[in-house]
Amino acid sequence: MAASLGRICRSGFLKSNNGSLFNQSSQFSTVKDWSRSRKAMVSCLGVAVGGVGALIYSLEQSVKAFELIAHPPHYPWSWEGFVNSLDHASMRRGWEVYKNVCSACHSLKFVAFRHLINVTHTEEEVKAIAEEYQIKDGPDDKGEYFMRPGKASDYIPNPYPNEEAARAANNGAYPPDLSYIVNGRHNGENYVFSLLTGFCDPPAGISLREGQYFNPYFPGGAIGMAPPIYDEVIEFEDGTPATTSQIAKDITTFLMWTSNPEHDERKYLFIKTLAVGIVLMAGCYWMKRHKWSTVKSTKLAFIPKKKQQ
Ligand code: HEC
Repeated sequence: MAASLGRICRSGFLKSNNGSLFNQSSQFSTVKDWSRSRKAMVSCLGVAVGGVGALIYSLEQSVKAFELIAHPPHYPWSWEGFVNSLDHASMRRGWEVYKNVCSACHSLKFVAFRHLINVTHTEEEVKAIAEEYQIKDGPDDKGEYFMRPGKASDYIPNPYPNEEAARAANNGAYPPDLSYIVNGRHNGENYVFSLLTGFCDPPAGISLREGQYFNPYFPGGAIGMAPPIYDEVIEFEDGTPATTSQIAKDITTFLMWTSNPEHDERKYLFIKTLAVGIVLMAGCYWMKRHKWSTVKSTKLAFIPKKKQQ
């Protein structure tokens, strides 16, 4: 390595001969042959292009939609921390909110009824819930599609047959699928909660089109969703007072679970790993002390030999 480096240096590759290179390259340039007016024109063109670019950039910066967003505050969610699970009673109420309110417009297509078993409901309850839905199935032996009551293995059906139908029913706005909305939005749970509770009158100077509502947390402020929840919009079966913030909290907790169904398992594994890890660490520490004890307790003594006379 060192030898080849030395050879390269000696060969003159790395010796500075910038001066001669610059001299040579300046001879290739044709600019010095340009007339004064041509030089002035090219300079003006450069300044104009730069100026227009700067103008476009500043205009672009001034109309960015996200500048009009109110940043959602941070709420103390029950699942925060290394060992906290989701609040399953809250998720059960959240399912009620989805079923009675949001499912009118939003799909939850990555969630099957069976996923709710032992998470929010018992198996019998889930089967009963699934049977309330009519699911399109088929083709039967005549080649026709038919409707049948849902089974626990079915996925939650979409409220609209396709995106066009959904847009047509919502003034052109598309209600997104809610399965992964908490993961799909920046600051997910705080955003969803703030969005649901944040509807208000538009400030002076902002005019909304038909079917639009003002929400400071939505990029641009104008959202195509009418305020979906208000106090007492539904009645919880467990008797919890259905205030707007309670409903928003419960549906957000439920959507947190649909986005992160492995959440509780993950934290549970963390606790297990920690427990096993502590035992193993203690064992390792003991082994280390054991193995090193001879080394550490060895005394080295230097006893100079007496000079032999
Ligand atoms: C009447 C129909 C309707 C109902 C009911 C409804 N939504 Fe919406 N929702 C919409 C539409 C339409 C949009 C798209 C808005 C847009 O893009 O301007 C939307 C958008 C959203 C968004 C996404 C905002 C974004 O960042 O893209 C979330 C989250 C949301 N709704 C949550 C809910 C929840 C939770 C419920 C139930 C409590 C609910 N919605 C009930 C119609 C509805």
